[in-house]
Amino acid sequence: MRGLASFRGLRDPSSETDAGVSSGYSRPMVQGPPPAGTNPLALMWGDIKADRAATVPFPPGEFGFSMARTRRYAADPLNSLLEYYERFGPVFTLKIFHHNVVVLLGPEANHHLLVSNAQNFRWREGHFRDLIPLMGDGLLTTDGAFHREQRSLMVPAFHKHRIRESLGVIQEEVDRAAEVFVPGAVVDLYEWTRHVALRIAMRALFGLDPDAARAGGLDAAGEFESALSYYGADFMLQIARGPFTPYTRMQQSRARLDELIYGEIARRRRSGERGPDILSMLLDATDEHGAVLEDRYIRDEVMTLMFAGHDTTTSTTSFLFYELARNPEVLEDPRISIEMILDETLRMYPAAHIGPRRAVEPFELLGHTVPGGIHVHYCSWASHRLPDVWEDPHRFDPLRFTEERRAQLRKGQYVPFGGGSRTCLGMRFGQAEIGIIARTILERHRLELVPGYELDIRHMPTISPRGGLPVTVRRATSGTPALEPALAA
Ligand code: HEM
Repeated sequence: MRGLASFRGLRDPSSETDAGVSSGYSRPMVQGPPPAGTNPLALMWGDIKADRAATVPFPPGEFGFSMARTRRYAADPLNSLLEYYERFGPVFTLKIFHHNVVVLLGPEANHHLLVSNAQNFRWREGHFRDLIPLMGDGLLTTDGAFHREQRSLMVPAFHKHRIRESLGVIQEEVDRAAEVFVPGAVVDLYEWTRHVALRIAMRALFGLDPDAARAGGLDAAGEFESALSYYGADFMLQIARGPFTPYTRMQQSRARLDELIYGEIARRRRSGERGPDILSMLLDATDEHGAVLEDRYIRDEVMTLMFAGHDTTTSTTSFLFYELARNPEVLEDPRISIEMILDETLRMYPAAHIGPRRAVEPFELLGHTVPGGIHVHYCSWASHRLPDVWEDPHRFDPLRFTEERRAQLRKGQYVPFGGGSRTCLGMRFGQAEIGIIARTILERHRLELVPGYELDIRHMPTISPRGGLPVTVRRATSGTPALEPALAA
């Protein structure tokens, strides 16, 4: 691709080279990443070789090949990681299927990986590489200068004032969809939120018209669901290729979504139509030589943000109402705001529950050596449930997030949005969206779990309630908790 250096009028506050841009210094051309391999056998062989090439010992853990361990970890990562923490402490090694993964848990380890030594960890060569066949080279799957430049192009779209401009669209979509909430009705809240969140992402982030897509025969939400279901398939099925495999189905959904995105890019380029959306920003970005972004990189960022921008908010909203249904007294407590309810939901159910990385160089942490070149994961989900860090960690208690108690959180203790220079780009947008959905529903209604419902969590790649979240709508009989100004952006 052509370089993205010195883009007009766009600043990335996290980029150390920005000072150079404003003083007229011309940065070198930034190349896109080399194509990533997607052959599962070649990738697995690379992992095995990396383990063998370790130059320092691995932290303690379980090293022998074990299908039982692999399956248990895939089915119930939270409880297996909590058990390993009990046995080995915050830094340990697990052989998962064919290769070792070093797991980091707890405040110090999270801070090390996300902030103090973040430059030693790469996203693209870690397990986020599995997203490349769907997302391409977007923010979640790239590193270094290319990632920094792409992020700097999009940061302005997530400034507070820009999010405030989106609130109207968010409220309009939520109000329209909320018509199904009538007392006595049974609604699958997960499906409902997925539908709303995808429409919001399409309209507010990209100026795409979901109704036009539907009229053209494309159910974007359904295609996304179908593409993402690949990541929920059994591991052995994920590596299979050929007709009727989950991989092929994912690629077919990808092709239909591509048609929508490339069609819109072409339409905008032809018509010159622009709006206050990210697609317009990406289309208009030019470097000092007048180079523009290639369509495929624009497509990759649109796909990445549509995924990141709706999947996490959908799951979080579902878990929030699941816990409210089990703890209705929370809504009667005048000390508790929607913001606190959301913070506690994200502690217990951080949607992007695992952060996979590849270590570049060997490093030392909490008395252990960790080899370079190998897979390293942090896990916010298990970190948020450590019994020696959080009191009564499996209890839903929004009072943990009063201002005073929030100020006492240790660095790296609470990381539902990651941390450091790659903190979730859509954090404020997601918080505002979930805040508006929660307030709109709670103003008039209470949602009860249908009798016999048992939460079963799937990981795909974010956590969500398997089979959805069926709830019965009841009329609200008490007031609505306050929506903090921060959530209303
Ligand atoms: C409750 C909602 C959300 C949660 C819990 C969440 C969580 C996260 C987490 C944990 C990461 C970092 C992953 C890691 O360290 O490995 C992340 C990154 C990211 N998120 Fe979110 N997210 C949410 C909503 C959103 C929304 C609404 C958008 C877009 C509109 C978004 C876009 C992104 C992007 C682009 C990144 C990658 C940033 C980078 O690498 O520079 N997220 N998110």
